[in-house]
Amino acid sequence: TSEPINVVVTGAAGQIAYSLLYQLAAGSVFGPNQPINLRLLDIPVMMTVLDGVIMELEDLALPLLREITPTADPNVAFKDVAAAFLVGSMPRKEGMERKDLLAANAEIFKVQGKALDQHAQKDVKVLVVGNPANTNAWICSHHAPSIPKENFTAMTRLDQNRAQAALAARLNVSVDKVKNVIIWGNHSSTQYPDAAHATVNLQGSTKPVPSVVNDDNWLNTTFVEKIQKRGAAVISARKMSSAMSAAKAAGDHMRDWWIGTKPGEWVSMGVLSDGSYGIPRDIVFSFPVAIENGQYKIVQGLAINDFARSKLNITSKELEEERTEANNVLQNK
Ligand code: NAI
Repeated sequence: TSEPINVVVTGAAGQIAYSLLYQLAAGSVFGPNQPINLRLLDIPVMMTVLDGVIMELEDLALPLLREITPTADPNVAFKDVAAAFLVGSMPRKEGMERKDLLAANAEIFKVQGKALDQHAQKDVKVLVVGNPANTNAWICSHHAPSIPKENFTAMTRLDQNRAQAALAARLNVSVDKVKNVIIWGNHSSTQYPDAAHATVNLQGSTKPVPSVVNDDNWLNTTFVEKIQKRGAAVISARKMSSAMSAAKAAGDHMRDWWIGTKPGEWVSMGVLSDGSYGIPRDIVFSFPVAIENGQYKIVQGLAINDFARSKLNITSKELEEERTEANNVLQNK
């Protein structure tokens, strides 16, 4: 059996972590032969709640789970970590503008970037879930200069999973028959869920989704809006934001990054733009990626029509604005 790896989860007393921790302990992310030590970071007032979570983790009686370290100190939490799930963030409160949210979180992700820089393994894989996820990932990487920028990613996998499920429902097939739907851009309502390159397996033969759906108006409006607004729909029904599905998506993202994607298949991740598809550099933008040996590559050569281009422009512009605001906040400290 292999040596345990150190994995940190921030916001460990929160609702997403509550579903995520089970998956980590059960081996469904890093594999059934990989023991893990868990570092659980939250803020001081949550330490009692965290004690309860730890009791439950112990009571899972799962053999892969070795040490569990609860802490409110990022310097302890990030020590020698091989993987980091940055879930904790300041939630949006009543009357708070996006700008205020960005400012509060810029500070958190700056602190955590520095702690990663000083304490984490240099090949640490970082997944930012806490919102605004793309810009938080960008801030974090900027404060961790000794760690490659490619190691910082933001989660758009929940959006991808939602899009895949919505297409499967429309086509009346099981979700595993639908592949290669893409989420472009920001994890926000400007994201572009794109079915143009998706395929569906019907009675053993692979067909392009657009020709099977055969309704461009549905794909370009109803479908896009449904995915963009799905998070808000869950909040209005549940009075809390998506947690079970967000945790599952975080597990999917890290597992694919760790273990790889299947040949011919890709997944969407917010990654540092290298200028692919004409997207401005130096923003964390969700692209389709294929993963091998723990390294992702942006899938190249997909045709982008005028409609798609206009959607890509909207979401990249929003990310550039967020970056400007983040820079303002960080410079005024
Ligand atoms: P939650 O409020 O239940 O838990 C957040 C936890 O983070 C709390 O325990 C809080 O004390 C902790 N926290 C706050 N500041 C912290 C800090 N500086 N260090 C460590 N921990 C800190 O929230 P939930 O539902 O677990 O969601 C977490 C985040 O994930 C939110 O920002 C939410 O918007 C985001 N989210 C992102 C999704 C995505 O697709 N990228 C999907 C769903 C949620």
